[in-house]
Amino acid sequence: MCCAFLQVARCKLVNHFRPFLLLGHGLSTQGRKTLSRKISSFIETEAEENNPETKVGVYIHWPYCARLCTYCNFNKYVIQKVDQENMEKSLLKEWKTLRKKYPRLKIRTIFFGGGTPSLMKPDIVESLIREISGGNYENLEVSLEANPADVNNNVAVFKLAGVTRLSLGIQSFNDRFLKLFNRDHNSLIAKQSLVKCLSVFGGHVSADLIFGAPGQTIQEWRQDLEFTIKQGVNHISTYQLTVERGTQLAKDVSSGKVQLPSDNVMTEMYLDAVQHLEKNGLYRYEISNFSRPGFECNHNIGYWNGGQYIGLGPGAHSRIGYGANRIGTINHPSPEVWKGQVDRLGHGVAKETKLDIDTVLGELLATGLRTSQGIEASVWNKSSQNKIAYHQFIKYLNNINSRNQQSTEVFGVNGDVSDTFGTDDLCGLIWNNENIKILPSHLSIADHVIVNVYSHFLKCIKLIND
Ligand SMILES: C[S@@+](CC[C@H](N)C(=O)[O-])C[C@H]1O[C@@H](n2cnc3c(N)ncnc32)[C@H](O)[C@@H]1O
Ligand code: SF4
Repeated sequence: MCCAFLQVARCKLVNHFRPFLLLGHGLSTQGRKTLSRKISSFIETEAEENNPETKVGVYIHWPYCARLCTYCNFNKYVIQKVDQENMEKSLLKEWKTLRKKYPRLKIRTIFFGGGTPSLMKPDIVESLIREISGGNYENLEVSLEANPADVNNNVAVFKLAGVTRLSLGIQSFNDRFLKLFNRDHNSLIAKQSLVKCLSVFGGHVSADLIFGAPGQTIQEWRQDLEFTIKQGVNHISTYQLTVERGTQLAKDVSSGKVQLPSDNVMTEMYLDAVQHLEKNGLYRYEISNFSRPGFECNHNIGYWNGGQYIGLGPGAHSRIGYGANRIGTINHPSPEVWKGQVDRLGHGVAKETKLDIDTVLGELLATGLRTSQGIEASVWNKSSQNKIAYHQFIKYLNNINSRNQQSTEVFGVNGDVSDTFGTDDLCGLIWNNENIKILPSHLSIADHVIVNVYSHFLKCIKLIND
C-alpha cells in the first residue's frame, strides 16, 4: 500500500513566510543551511539587472494586533500605542531604497499582511499604495488582511484608499471556537462584517476559515462553510488548525486541557470541504484555497509559481531574480530593530542569501505542487534558467519509474493510483512533457508527496552534476 500515512496537509497559508516554513517543515536541511549563510553585502544588483523578468509582488507586513489569538505564531505584537506615522515613514523609506535598487521591476500586486493591517489608518494604506504603484493602478491587485472586529464603516475608506480585495479573518461563525481562539470578534460581528465587506467589495472578498478546532464536529464545520457560501463569497481559504510551538494552544494541547479532533476527522473535514465547495462552484486552486474562476489571489499565485516579491516591514521576506541569480532576504522581525536599521541604512534586511539552484527549485516544488495545476514546464524553466531543465527532471522521473509508460498522458486519473505507478514513494505524482502535479485525490497528503519528490530531485541534481 503506498502512502502509508494519511495526514491532512498543513494548510496554513503564511504569505511571505510560506516558502521558508514549508522548507522548514522537513523538506530541505540543505535549503535551510543556504538560507542561514549570511552574505556581507546588501542586495546585489546583478541578479535583477540580468533578469528579463520584471514582474513583482510587494508584501507589506503590519506587525501589530489588538490581542493575541491562542493559535498564532506569526510575527505580531500587542502594544498600547502604535506610532503609525513613524511606521509609515519607515515603510516608505524601505520601499524607496528597494525601488532604487530594482528600478525596472513592475509592480503587479500588493499585499498588506500581518499582524492586523486592518488596524492601519486608511490614509497610510493609501499613501503606501500610491508610492509603491507609482500612481499606476491599472490591473493592480491590492489585498488587505482584515479582522472582522476592525471593519465596519472604514471598509469603504479602505476601498477608496486603493484596496481591491479584502481577506477577512472570520475563522469561525461559532462563538464557542471564537472564544477558544481568543478572537476579538463574536459570531454576530463575523456575520455583520462579512455582509458589510461584500456590499463594498462585491465579489472581491475572501473568507479565512479554520477547521479542526478542539471539540469541533464535522457538522459544525459544515455549518461554517455553508453559511459562508450562502453569503455569496467568491473565495474561501480553509486552514486546518495547526498547533504551533510557543502558542497558548500548544500549552493547552500538551497539558490535556483541550483535545484536537483525530487525524481521521481532520481528513474527513478537509475532504468534505473540498467536495462541498466544488459542488458550489468554488474550485480548489491550491490545497487551502478555493475560488470561483476569476477571483483567485494573484499575489499568492505569484509565490506558488516561484515569482519575484519584495517584502517590506518587520520579518518580511523577498525573492528577486531567477535561477542561480535568485536572491532571498529576510528582514529583522523585531519592529524596533527593523525601524532602527531602516533609519540608519534605509532597509531592514537582516540576512541576504544568493540561493542555490536546489533551494530555488525546492521552493518551487514545495509551493507549485500544492496547486491544482501543478508546475508547468515553462514555469520550471523560468525558475531554473536552464540549470536543470524541466525535460531533464522528467527524464529522471521516467527512468526511475519502472512502469513509466503509464505516467504520460494520465492526468485526471481518480481514486487510488497506487497500482498505476511503479515507485511507491512517488505515489500520487503525475507528469508529462508540459506539467508535473499531484493528483487531486492525493492533494490532501501533498506534504508527504513533496518530501519524496524533493529527495528524488536532489538525486537527479547529483546525477546531472556527476
Ligand atoms: C496572517 S494570518 C492573520 C490575519 C489576521 N490578523 C487575522 O487574524 O485574521 C492569516 C490566516 O492564517 C490562518 N492561521 C494563522 N495561524 C493559524 C494556525 N495556527 N492554524 C491554522 N490557521 C492559521 C488564519 O486563518 C488567518 O486568518
Ligand atoms: S489577529 Fe491575526 S495575526 Fe494577530 S494574533 Fe490573531 S491570528 Fe495572529
